[in-house]
Amino acid sequence: MDDSGDENDSPRKDSVQSLTAKLDAQTLTPLRPKKKLKVANVHPTGPGSSKQAAIQEQRKQLPISRGRNAIIKEIRENDVTVLVGETGSGKTTQIPQYLLDSGLARNGMIAVTQPRRVAATSLASRVALETQSNLGSLVGYSVRFSDCSSEKTKIKFVTDGMLMRELLGDPELERYSVVVVDEAHERTLRTDVVLARLKEILKKRNSSQTDVKGKGKGKEREASGPTNPLRVVIMSATLDAEKFSSFFGNAKILYVQGRQHPVAIYHTAAPQPDYVDAALRTVFQIHTDQPPGDILVFLPGQEDIESLDKSIQLYAKRLPPDTHNILTCPLYASLPPAHQQQIFLPSPKGTRKVILATNIAETSVTIPGVRYVIDSGKCKEKRWVGRGIGGGFDTLLTRDITKSSAWQRTGRAGREAAGSCFRLYTEEAFNALPLSAEPEIQRCSLTSSMLQLKCLDQNLEDMEFMESPDMDGVAQALTTLYLLGALDDKKKLTPLGRQMAYFPLEPPLARALLASQEFGCTSEVLSIVSILSSSSKLFVDTSDTRDAARDANSKFRHISGDHLTMLNVVRAYEEVLQSEGGADGKKAPKAALKDWCMRQYVSHRCLTEAFEIRAQLRDLCEKQKIDWKVSCGDKRGEEQAILRSLVRGLVQNTAFLQPDGRYKQVMGRSIIKIHPGSSLCDKKVPAVVYDELVYTTQVYARGVSAITRNYIAEVPVTNHRGS
Ligand code: CDP
Ligand code: MG
Repeated sequence: MDDSGDENDSPRKDSVQSLTAKLDAQTLTPLRPKKKLKVANVHPTGPGSSKQAAIQEQRKQLPISRGRNAIIKEIRENDVTVLVGETGSGKTTQIPQYLLDSGLARNGMIAVTQPRRVAATSLASRVALETQSNLGSLVGYSVRFSDCSSEKTKIKFVTDGMLMRELLGDPELERYSVVVVDEAHERTLRTDVVLARLKEILKKRNSSQTDVKGKGKGKEREASGPTNPLRVVIMSATLDAEKFSSFFGNAKILYVQGRQHPVAIYHTAAPQPDYVDAALRTVFQIHTDQPPGDILVFLPGQEDIESLDKSIQLYAKRLPPDTHNILTCPLYASLPPAHQQQIFLPSPKGTRKVILATNIAETSVTIPGVRYVIDSGKCKEKRWVGRGIGGGFDTLLTRDITKSSAWQRTGRAGREAAGSCFRLYTEEAFNALPLSAEPEIQRCSLTSSMLQLKCLDQNLEDMEFMESPDMDGVAQALTTLYLLGALDDKKKLTPLGRQMAYFPLEPPLARALLASQEFGCTSEVLSIVSILSSSSKLFVDTSDTRDAARDANSKFRHISGDHLTMLNVVRAYEEVLQSEGGADGKKAPKAALKDWCMRQYVSHRCLTEAFEIRAQLRDLCEKQKIDWKVSCGDKRGEEQAILRSLVRGLVQNTAFLQPDGRYKQVMGRSIIKIHPGSSLCDKKVPAVVYDELVYTTQVYARGVSAITRNYIAEVPVTNHRGS
């Protein structure tokens, strides 16, 4: 499915009245509300209590607080402890503080891993606030391309990917006394790899015991054994904790009694293929008919969120003047930190907050004030598609959620009081959902993890994981790494491979960057790689603005295609930066830059992020003694060096023109078309290189440049199909 969201970007045309009428109570069948569990008031309201006193009081009221001593005792006495607790019970924010206070982290830091960067950064801010310290001192975070920690840091929130990177410099994680693997139930590839590594590290670091077991005699060992034994805490919001426990020799499982109010569940009577539209109608139905309380809408991705946001704002303007206001708050992985805090602030009086979130709000981020949940039933899933043809990249596909996700989403409505959950799918559709998701290790590209493990002298294919990786995935990763020159024909890591792993980039992009030295265009390739590593797309491509965007973008268009067009945008943006006052060391005014981006139909967010990424990659280049200033200039012939470098990395993403006008992959069997958003869309060129494939009714290549066949032939591998 195409994730460009083209169809969903224009505000809905019908009136609110007719929309809400369409979705009346009869189309939503109430289910028996979930059983009432425990009831308690979370919010302290003592008169005159300062904000900090209120926070401390709130901490004490969290369900986990009662179990504090027992939990610390178990963690102290065991190598591994599994902790299960309802979302919002206080696991993530409290456990690190308990560990710190208990002295368990006397000889090292506490790492708390998160699958998503937005969770890592926002939770770090919260814990800094609770410990009355500045973010980056006692409590900090470290995510790809952004480190906010210092010598003083004792509690560090990290993405699971970042912890894997840290392993490269600290293979036994010796700087840590406790590693808390949070959100383990999500089973991301990196969480699984981290767990597998931790199992080995425990054997080494807690060595007074021959076998790693959950039930170790930690107390005695602390006295007589190694000075800095490692404690591992695995935290999960779902009940399937036995898997983690048995992987770590039957480690102890602790359950935190949650707090859940009853939630009434409604299903639609008929399927809703346009879930954004159905969500819009439901938002206004709740807003006009239901008592106060914020609404949390679950949507698959940023595009749908932005589209619904626009529509809600449009319709909110047409509401009768005596209706309450609506305040929308988007929440998705790449949301800039400055926008995150707004989500946690109470809504102003007389205003209903509508949070538009991806599955990030399912378990990792708890938002207070929510009484209504609208569940689209969809999420985006990372999946490596088209066995053997997709190269080493994953694609994000929109798909149905699992039952486990549906229950988590429902639960978010009953955190503080009784609530309602509106499922935008039928009860039959719910019953047909799979129970839980396949772990990423069985469906995602293993290339990057395999390369990092090779640097630790470990073969991914020989390691013990909770679930074994997909064998096709292993073969694909080996082929890709071999084609990139990271592994030799005996599967041994090459010096080039080690250098590639040094950069926090997808291996193909790291390879292109390293190749740019040979072709004398590092400065240009750095810019392109930074744009490609940004979490937003550079070109704002929506169906309703496509023509205007095309006109505005035409001045940047490069005859060879999208990569050099991107580079032209970067060059033009740099000029604006300088002309707006950035030249004499001062920062150009943000408003002027934003305005420029809007007029050019390019994403300001993408460019700001890419410039930050580029600054960090430049630092890394310097450390590797790579001269990033080397430039090929902007003469057409010279610029071919850039494409030659890109082909070194993206060699698996190349295709030749066929007599019928379509393109066929050089290293796969797929016939592909050029995406309508590409500047090469209507052109026929003998060969192309592309960034990614997008799957809709057809296979489309996105981010495409024209190349010559020679560029592929000159890639230094003897056998392009690998061995
Ligand atoms: O990890 P778990 O889901 O068990 O809970 P948590 O993230 O530690 O959250 C505990 C409490 O802190 C919840 O009531 C959240 O609403 C609150 N919290 C907050 O107010 N602001 C944040 N940025 C994070 C958490
Ligand atoms: Mg949590």
